Amino acid sequence: MAESDNPIFRIADRAAGLRASGFDVISLAAGEPEAPTATHIVEAAVTAARDPRTHHYGPAAGLADLRERVAAQHPDHVTADHVQITIGTKHALHLALGALAGPGEEVLVLRPSWPGHVGAVESVGASVVPVLVDRDGLTSVDALEAARTPRTRAVVVANPSNPSGVLHPAGLLAEIAAWCVDKDVWLVSDEVYGGLVFDADPFSATAVVADSSRLVVVDGVSKVHAMTGWRVGWLLGPTEVVAAARAQVSATITHVPSITQYAALAALTAPVDADTVADYRASRDLLVGKLAQVPGVECPTPAGGMFAFPDVSKLLSAEHPTAAELAAWLLDEAHVAVVSGEVFGDDGTLRISFALDQERLTEAADRLVSALTKAGS
Ligand SMILES: Cc1ncc(COP(=O)(O)O)c(C=O)c1O
Repeated sequence: MAESDNPIFRIADRAAGLRASGFDVISLAAGEPEAPTATHIVEAAVTAARDPRTHHYGPAAGLADLRERVAAQHPDHVTADHVQITIGTKHALHLALGALAGPGEEVLVLRPSWPGHVGAVESVGASVVPVLVDRDGLTSVDALEAARTPRTRAVVVANPSNPSGVLHPAGLLAEIAAWCVDKDVWLVSDEVYGGLVFDADPFSATAVVADSSRLVVVDGVSKVHAMTGWRVGWLLGPTEVVAAARAQVSATITHVPSITQYAALAALTAPVDADTVADYRASRDLLVGKLAQVPGVECPTPAGGMFAFPDVSKLLSAEHPTAAELAAWLLDEAHVAVVSGEVFGDDGTLRISFALDQERLTEAADRLVSALTKAGS
């Protein structure tokens, strides 16, 4: 999809235009926290920039300390040898899929899902086979088996999901992983929102699967640590996949810039502030609670991530026939930017971020409640 066709960019452009005309626009459209990166992380980068060791080439694999730190978040059988540092989670997805699939082969992608999963599969020349999630936003071994062909090489599951915030529970993930081993299909577990889980303990697929021989985890510091612009992520999996990814990194970018790797190391060294997750949970509850006041809107409570994903199909009408048109109207009417579900493969929904301070979120949510109530009446 060209950027100009992407509803997220269209909404962002319109929001910028309204702001330039002096309107108080609140954006709940971005897929990133509004907060800046924590000071201790920024300071670690400044210190690293002053250290001449970062002024020269480093290892293609990524800094040993960072790889060890990543491995330490996983069960003991995962070591630094199973980790490749990448330019963000998106790069890790591209490298993982490049190692696992190619032209003429298929990758199962859940729908709705973050469009980057489709883009990553296409970037390696493989074909996307969409697998619709069930009413609860989950997939199952039966749904995956129905979509599998002899060309299927991998399935991508984000846990929790963007846009729905649905979390595949540990037992279900373990079943899917076992099916993958049985069918020689790789499970690519996207855990970039894995630290933002609200009603349960967070877990990685590495901790719940019995056999990790067909498991690759992609993750990064972008979301949980408010570091989207720093571009540090990683891929974690069997050494043959890591070696293929490393060869690509070495042949293309040489390695991820050392300064940002030191920033990521600082992020992973201090535990995620319990208040951060509690704040996200409170923001989720605030937004979901407000949306529940709108007749006709159904908003499941997201188990994790940073988005509510309400079904607004009952509000669609001759005036606002699609969720995209409703989102455009909400921007004009309420000066609140949200993303329509079509970009994720679901036409009757909106994706609404709650990753901003609660005062602004309350203001935005109140505006949405009155505008959506008006749209439905
Ligand atoms: C599910 C999912 N995976 C990966 C990414 C990309 O993360 P990064 O910024 O680390 O490349 C995003 C970004 O929105 C996402 O939503």
